[in-house]
Amino acid sequence: MSSLIYSLVKPILFTLNPEQAHDLTLNKLHLASKYPPLLLPLEKMYGASVPKLPVKCMGIEFDNPVGLAAGLDKDARALPAFSALGFSGVELGTVTPKPQPGNEKPRMFRLLEDQGLINRMGFNSAGVDVFLSNLSALKKNDRNGAVVGINIGKNAATSIEDAHYDYVSALHRVYSQADYITVNISSPNTKSLRDLQNENFLDKLLLQIKTAQRKCGKVHKRYVPIALKVAPDLQEDEIETIAELVLSHQFDAIIATNTTIARPDSLKSKYAHEGGGLSGSPVKDLSTECIRQFYGRLKGRVEIIGVGGIANAEDAWEKLLAGADFLQIYSLFIYQGPSMVGEIVQGISNKVTEHGFDSLAEAMEHLRDKV
Ligand SMILES: Cc1cc2nc3c(=O)[nH]c(=O)nc-3n(C[C@H](O)[C@H](O)[C@H](O)COP(=O)(O)O)c2cc1C
Repeated sequence: MSSLIYSLVKPILFTLNPEQAHDLTLNKLHLASKYPPLLLPLEKMYGASVPKLPVKCMGIEFDNPVGLAAGLDKDARALPAFSALGFSGVELGTVTPKPQPGNEKPRMFRLLEDQGLINRMGFNSAGVDVFLSNLSALKKNDRNGAVVGINIGKNAATSIEDAHYDYVSALHRVYSQADYITVNISSPNTKSLRDLQNENFLDKLLLQIKTAQRKCGKVHKRYVPIALKVAPDLQEDEIETIAELVLSHQFDAIIATNTTIARPDSLKSKYAHEGGGLSGSPVKDLSTECIRQFYGRLKGRVEIIGVGGIANAEDAWEKLLAGADFLQIYSLFIYQGPSMVGEIVQGISNKVTEHGFDSLAEAMEHLRDKV
């Protein structure tokens, strides 16, 4: 029934261009988030059928291993609705310190034949003030208590040399409202942003972020973990460097990965050569390989959130075995609709039981490294 509803809604949404469809959907979810009785049907139809499969990541308890990836709710307008759909964690943002419009439209493309998306949104953001006022107005309506991640970025007008000012100021602003914070240095759509992944920039940036985290921790008397979100286009030596830096600066997690700038030959869509970041099925293997490489170096000392092209429980399981402790989805959620959250969690839960384990953590402890 729940997947039937999306199969009726999707053809209508897909007659609109992707950004219009996104805005329309988000406006509806925003409305439902403001008036909690409107959340009940979502909860009944979707959230209620997501089995409990608790996991711990960054010291935070999640009800199940599937969260919503950053970029869908950039201005924190629909936390309660996404939570009602069954996501155990919702990563809001990327939010920038000041409002900015992002790139010119069109800037989002559906690669239907490839089950992918290309976007070059460029951090369109209402800015941190509006973001926080939206979040504080809506958070109380989230009855399901999803974990709130806040993904922060820099304004386009800020130079790469000054980027740390933006990250530190955003971190100070969002700290008290976040269960965890993500430092996004891997969007391909903000000029030179990915240069922050280079050793010199990154070492300084991580130091400044840790200093800010310590200060905020004292003020708010609460430790908020911090994750670093990376690109799937990193070379092995870059992965090595980043792994060493997150270890030495004691970051809490790596989020692997953002969208790719690669364009596999296998792409069939006429939009394949649009500029921007490619996500969905075409990024799946790149992202899993990136997780595997980070896990090989980090071995659980810094946890990994796996994201990129997850379409079903098989894809999810593959990422968990590669080293992910928690998962996020975005693009395939657009193609398949909300029932996929419950289907993936149920599928993972079945695999845990089939292998004879009582919890996902126990299954991973035994099955990882042996595959
Ligand atoms: C339209 C769109 C906008 C996105 N915006 C952001 C963003 O603002 N910040 C971010 O960290 N990732 C952003 N992402 C990347 C996703 O969070 C995710 O890392 C990536 O799409 C891979 O996962 P998927 O294949 O499940 O979509 C965006 C992705 C899409 C498709």
